[in-house]
Amino acid sequence: MSEIKVEGERYKAKDRVRLDRTDELFKDIAEGEPIMNIEHLRVVYKTDNAETVAVEDFTLQVGKGELISIVGPSGCGKTTILRSIAGLLQPTSGKITIGNKECTSPGSDRGMVFQDFALFPWRTVLKNVEFGMEVAGVPKEERRARALKYIKAVGLEKFADSRIHELSGGMKQRVGIARAMVMHPAVILMDEPFGALDAQTRNIMQEMLVKIVEHSARTIIFVTHSVDEALYLSDRVVVLSKRPSTIYKIVDVPGNRPRDRTDPKFTELRKTILGYLEKQNVME
Ligand SMILES: Nc1ncnc2c1ncn2[C@@H]1O[C@H](COP(=O)(O)OP(=O)(O)O)[C@@H](O)[C@H]1O
Ligand SMILES: [Mg+2]
Repeated sequence: MSEIKVEGERYKAKDRVRLDRTDELFKDIAEGEPIMNIEHLRVVYKTDNAETVAVEDFTLQVGKGELISIVGPSGCGKTTILRSIAGLLQPTSGKITIGNKECTSPGSDRGMVFQDFALFPWRTVLKNVEFGMEVAGVPKEERRARALKYIKAVGLEKFADSRIHELSGGMKQRVGIARAMVMHPAVILMDEPFGALDAQTRNIMQEMLVKIVEHSARTIIFVTHSVDEALYLSDRVVVLSKRPSTIYKIVDVPGNRPRDRTDPKFTELRKTILGYLEKQNVME
């Protein structure tokens, strides 16, 4: 497999690997085959007089096209796991690989969606979604056409020229999702992306995400502390133990998306997962 180039390096049209399309690097991996391996991840935070073990022996294999949720109480280490995968922090030990490449620094093969949006407030919606492609050196016309396609996919076509500060929270996160997806990363990491939204907006956002995923078959690791959200969205739910987080249980979620939230089998699974969380001495 060809090597992924360093983030920020510009591509030329003849380059085999485009930084804005890293999913193409993995096109030989079949749907469902492992695309990411997290092995014995351990993260210890050291401050002047204390050591916090945030993650302990976290091992997970992610299949291509899979949507995996990670649930656990606040403070158990979810963000730490995601930041390690993103290459934003260096694990104390353990190994994370995507394809055959180790994730030791950020790269455009992994796209991130943050809970607090992390957008450029002074840029328009279009300019925010175009940003990564600008850095990758994608020509202007192509950049614009692709950005508009994803802006439409998240239902913001009327707001392409609006500035971020003019948008509601739900709209901001639509921009965050479009910005990640437009780069065609091999894996998308989402850290409680709907956590700051009211319940109704949150449901609408989940439905929107399901629609986009069905059309693009992206691999997603989705962190949430909502069991309902995890059951509505994902193929598998990883239930974490209390801190230091390690995997307590993995639950397979049956049924194709879009799902019926009121289906009794989800009520059952919800009970099961809440039971696991309670056993870990934690409440939602
Ligand atoms: N930069 C840091 N320095 C020291 N401790 C940290 C740091 N970031 C997180 N922690 C601690 O690590 C634990 C896990 O944090 P985090 O991964 O943010 O949990 P979650 O996302 O599940 O709420 C918490 O106890 C938190 O206080
Ligand atoms: Mg967190």
